[in-house]
Amino acid sequence: MRTLDSTTSLRIAVQKSGRLTDKTLNLLEGIGLKFDDYKRSLLVKCLNFDVELLLIRDDDIPEYVQDGVCDLGFVGANVVEEDQMDVEILRGLNYGVCRLSLAVPKDGDIKKPEDFAGKKIATSYPGITKRYFEKKGIDVKVITLSGSVEIAPRLEIADAICDLVSTGNTLKANGLDELINIFDSETQLIKTNKPLSEGKQQLIEKILQRIEGYQKAGK
Ligand code: PRP
Ligand code: MG
Repeated sequence: MRTLDSTTSLRIAVQKSGRLTDKTLNLLEGIGLKFDDYKRSLLVKCLNFDVELLLIRDDDIPEYVQDGVCDLGFVGANVVEEDQMDVEILRGLNYGVCRLSLAVPKDGDIKKPEDFAGKKIATSYPGITKRYFEKKGIDVKVITLSGSVEIAPRLEIADAICDLVSTGNTLKANGLDELINIFDSETQLIKTNKPLSEGKQQLIEKILQRIEGYQKAGK
């Protein structure tokens, strides 16, 4: 069921303002989709295809795609993995590359997975973190924070963290060592598993082919 004004356009979810936004919009323009002005609106019509963009928070994208509110979504694999929604991953895109890692205060006593037993771990990814330790049979206490996770050990609200690492600068600035990489991430194009019209399916096929060409061209 659609919750926005009814449309037959292929609706694509894109992160509203964040690390993936510009690269995703560049990709869409790079494959030939033209937009009027996506800076001002949260729902943007494509000028030359029956497509519209919905600009929302990245955490919301998998659920919107699962529920069929959006047909496609560009979102980090970390978010898709965390949310465990019923969506199809069409392909990985080689931007927004980062990893989710366990990190600990320098010179601390946590050196290997077993050392986390009984410890408090701050993270914005409680699902991935809990599943990692459950699989290993190690009991940990997960503290969910929505951002600035690296500060938690200094505030003594956690013994360790599990957060995204790209350059590693944030870890370094907060006196943390990256110990174990538990998940590799990149941007993914996801698709709803709800039934789609023939027209939408053909359009998705076309978009996928163009993305493939765009990637092959090394862009
Ligand atoms: C992200 C992530 C890490 C940092 C990693 O945080 O949560 O903290 O970037 O990047 P780096 O390895 O290049 O330093 P963001 O800046 O998005 O802020 P937030 O966690 O407070 O949302
Ligand atoms: Mg951060």
